[in-house]
Amino acid sequence: MIETKVLSNRQVSKDFYLMKVAGSYQAQMGQFCMLRAWDEVPVLSRPISIYDVDEEGISFLYKVVGQGTEIFANLKEGADIRIDGPYGNGFPNVSGKIALVGGGIGVAPLYYTAKQLKAAGNQVDCYLGFTDESLMVEEYEQVADKVVINIGGYIVDDVPVEKYDYIFTCGPKIMMQVLADKVKGSNAKLYVSMENRMACGAGACLVCTCKTSDGNKKVCKDGPVFLAEEVFFHA
Ligand SMILES: Cc1cc2nc3c(=O)[nH]c(=O)nc-3n(C[C@H](O)[C@H](O)[C@H](O)COP(=O)(O)OP(=O)(O)OC[C@H]3O[C@@H](n4cnc5c(N)ncnc54)[C@H](O)[C@@H]3O)c2cc1C
Ligand code: FES
Repeated sequence: MIETKVLSNRQVSKDFYLMKVAGSYQAQMGQFCMLRAWDEVPVLSRPISIYDVDEEGISFLYKVVGQGTEIFANLKEGADIRIDGPYGNGFPNVSGKIALVGGGIGVAPLYYTAKQLKAAGNQVDCYLGFTDESLMVEEYEQVADKVVINIGGYIVDDVPVEKYDYIFTCGPKIMMQVLADKVKGSNAKLYVSMENRMACGAGACLVCTCKTSDGNKKVCKDGPVFLAEEVFFHA
């Protein structure tokens, strides 16, 4: 566990915040960290995807939904915060034409992913879906070849899956499942990032288990990224 300081923490939209934390981090695209900024309550640290990493620190884009994220939202510059991780397998390093498809706060891991894939010379298009208000669009435009936004509709409808070699997605399970159905029969390989509820975040408690064609898997350790064709979304 790293004990460190908040460098900045700003509201970017209603209920959404971007927090940057000091330190030197080696992270794979699609990994997450366990964060806590309290001693005893709530008991568990909270899993948050890596939004970005640079020479000053690591950033997290998060939505306030409950006690833990409310505490994060109130952290000021210089506040203490503890980080475990980075954890998880992350998205694979692939080459080709790549679409990144995010829904809601599921867009969070796709920024660093786009940045890394683009830096490696790939074509990277982002498809980002939101319920009522878009988020950080200019930032995604800086790291992708193309950004398609859908507000209030179905972002999966906007993705021409046959144009891509690989598609990475993160967001509501139903969105990822519909995308998985759409990809069937095309040449695109789809990887999904599952955000099951977690407790330990490190492979010890089985709270995050998901069913796959290869048996039960721990989302925190074996994932959070899986090949879509291996995941039983509703099991
Ligand atoms: C691998 C992973 C990566 C994640 N990345 C991000 C991220 O980048 N940004 C972000 O904002 N959130 C992310 N989350 C979700 C985030 O961990 C939860 O929103 C957070 O733990 C809620 O804590 P809380 O104390 O504020 O709310 P709680 O009081 O714990 O819960 C409030 C409400 O949110 C629901 N909830 C909590 N966790 C989840 C979950 N995992 N899935 C669905 N509903 C949940 C609860 O059922 C409850 O209704 C991620 C989760 C995982 C597993
Ligand atoms: S959260 Fe404990 S095993 Fe995954």
